[in-house]
Amino acid sequence: MSTVFETELKSKHIVIVGGSSGIGKATAKMAAALGAKVTIASRSVAKMQAAAVEIGNGAQIAPVDTTDEAGVTSWARGLGPVDHLVISASSAAHGAFTELPTDDLRTMFEAKFIGPYMAAREVLPALVKGGSVTFFSGVLSRCPSAGATGLGAVNAAVEALAKGLALELSGRARVNCISPGMVATEAYAVMPDEARDDMYAKVGASLPVGRVGVAEEVAQAVILAMTNGFLTGTVLDIDGGHLVRG
Ligand SMILES: NC(=O)c1ccc[n+]([C@@H]2O[C@H](COP(=O)([O-])OP(=O)(O)OC[C@H]3O[C@@H](n4cnc5c(N)ncnc54)[C@H](OP(=O)(O)O)[C@@H]3O)[C@@H](O)[C@H]2O)c1
Repeated sequence: MSTVFETELKSKHIVIVGGSSGIGKATAKMAAALGAKVTIASRSVAKMQAAAVEIGNGAQIAPVDTTDEAGVTSWARGLGPVDHLVISASSAAHGAFTELPTDDLRTMFEAKFIGPYMAAREVLPALVKGGSVTFFSGVLSRCPSAGATGLGAVNAAVEALAKGLALELSGRARVNCISPGMVATEAYAVMPDEARDDMYAKVGASLPVGRVGVAEEVAQAVILAMTNGFLTGTVLDIDGGHLVRG
């Protein structure tokens, strides 16, 4: 017996910007296993090739740097019809308000807001009527943290973008935003192992679920956002209870 997810996703073309790593890769694997035709997009071709092997089921790669406007336009033209667009690509900049270099702040807004904005805009002509766009924010938009005010602000901007586009694209495409709490992904690979494990343990212990998340748990929310025809203009919190904890 096929599930509602298989029925909705079978043979659908899903493009995942950021699909070579973390939550994007977990989403790609899940969607491919449900019968979707998956294309992953990001900057490193080698990383995408390795991820495509892991994802299996004929996953395709389509290199793009979302901060390169001309590159995004030609990338989008080469995709063919797209049923669902997921944009998990981002970069984060941490630092105290008076110390964070302005260039780091700009780079983060380019990668986490303007890049996804341009990717959605350029893919729109290829987006099949009734399709969806899923953006990513994060808990800091509504649960700010000292030393991460810029990151909180960019997350809030992405949520506002998703809500506004849900209205602007009404009748044409559904638009949602996934807001993860802390999820163990390659995003933290740059940290020394011990410091990373300590951080996971500390944050996990502070959450109602008692641990940080895994990429597959957030991927399940992305599958819901793609397949539920009544879901639009929503920010889905997949955060282990981070927001209710305050
Ligand atoms: N993990 C968490 O704890 C957490 C918490 C809150 C919010 N989030 C949000 O959830 C989303 C996914 O996070 P994640 O942990 O899965 O991230 P991740 O593992 O670091 O993956 C990021 C992906 O984006 C790609 N990418 C980065 N910059 C790009 C650019 N300019 N153009 C195209 N591709 C680019 C990366 O590949 P290349 O480097 O090869 O381009 C990679 O495939 C992000 O929006 C993140 O901010 C995550």
